[in-house]
Amino acid sequence: MNKAQVIHRLGPPDVMQWQDWPVPDPARGEVRLRHTAIGVNFADTYHRGGVSHPWKVDEPPVVIGFEGTGIVEGVGDGVTGFRTGDRVAYGIPPLGSYSEVRNYPADKLLHLPDTLDDRQVAALLMKGMTAHYLLHRTYKVEPGDTILVHAAAGGMGLILCQWANALGATIVGTVSTPEKVEAARAAGCHYPVVRPHANFVDVVREVTDGEGCAVVYEAIGKDTLQHSLDCLRPMGVCAAYGHVSGPPDPVDIIQDLGRRGSLFITRPAIMHYVARRSDLEWTARDLFKAIGEGILDANINYEYPLKDAVRAHRAIGSGKTLGATVLIP
Ligand SMILES: NC(=O)c1ccc[n+]([C@@H]2O[C@H](COP(=O)([O-])OP(=O)(O)OC[C@H]3O[C@@H](n4cnc5c(N)ncnc54)[C@H](OP(=O)(O)O)[C@@H]3O)[C@@H](O)[C@H]2O)c1
Repeated sequence: MNKAQVIHRLGPPDVMQWQDWPVPDPARGEVRLRHTAIGVNFADTYHRGGVSHPWKVDEPPVVIGFEGTGIVEGVGDGVTGFRTGDRVAYGIPPLGSYSEVRNYPADKLLHLPDTLDDRQVAALLMKGMTAHYLLHRTYKVEPGDTILVHAAAGGMGLILCQWANALGATIVGTVSTPEKVEAARAAGCHYPVVRPHANFVDVVREVTDGEGCAVVYEAIGKDTLQHSLDCLRPMGVCAAYGHVSGPPDPVDIIQDLGRRGSLFITRPAIMHYVARRSDLEWTARDLFKAIGEGILDANINYEYPLKDAVRAHRAIGSGKTLGATVLIP
């Protein structure tokens, strides 16, 4: 019998239980796949703990997770692009990746290039596609732009720094401890700032000769968002893509955006940017190319057996992790 980390109620990491998980034959349009590696994302803790979850509370038992690589074991009716034995990857819902075997819609699935390693892609696909749209579409980073990346040594932060550096940006990045400074710097962050010891608003102003930065990649939320707005140049963009410290206070469009200089703020989400199959494909193609060219390193610093997912969640919930975490079935 296949096993999975099954959740019967919302709660702390140990609500995940390692138990038998029967998987039916794939339905029409679905592929059945056996995971080779599973990506762990901060959002998984929201889905487990109840901060936000794309399933109804009366729906459990459920299996969380939405990123992984695997081998196709069977295809449902109507599937044309995939065959048994194909190496595949995915990085968007539906949930269910914390499992040995699952069914997944073929129209959201990607072929895994032969040259790329399963673990590398499981660690990078969702976060890498997010970094792609943040750096190329939410705001198009140009050579010479100064940008601010919060939590620069976190999973998303390291990817944003590596890719933005390759695009020619000057990067100010915030981290919470001196130990994380070197990791951020190694990923291409030019000015790592330890919060709250140094005021990142002052650093951004200094680096930009008082003008402010073009864009803030804001993943911390409650603790930092208002200060992030103070860092922006006129018409600058705040891409508030995460809120690890809690949801930010409401933003007043006149006081907070108008008064500071016609700022833009957006709450972008990966699902919207890759909802069309064509967008998913070109985003993934660019990402796979960047991985292949060595622009992006997965920085897999934590690897747990899938049966130990509880430990992985305790670690990322502590905020002390550095880089990516993967689960191995
Ligand atoms: N909108 C989207 O499309 C999208 C896609 C991917 C991720 N996200 C979001 O991006 C955020 C970061 O994701 P990630 O995968 O990079 O997470 P991660 O690897 O766990 O890193 C999060 C970092 O946030 C910092 N942090 C500050 N306060 C924290 C707290 N109270 N608890 C935990 N961490 C705290 C920590 O860095 P320091 O110690 O340096 O502060 C930590 O390393 C999450 O909110 C996630 O949901 C959004």
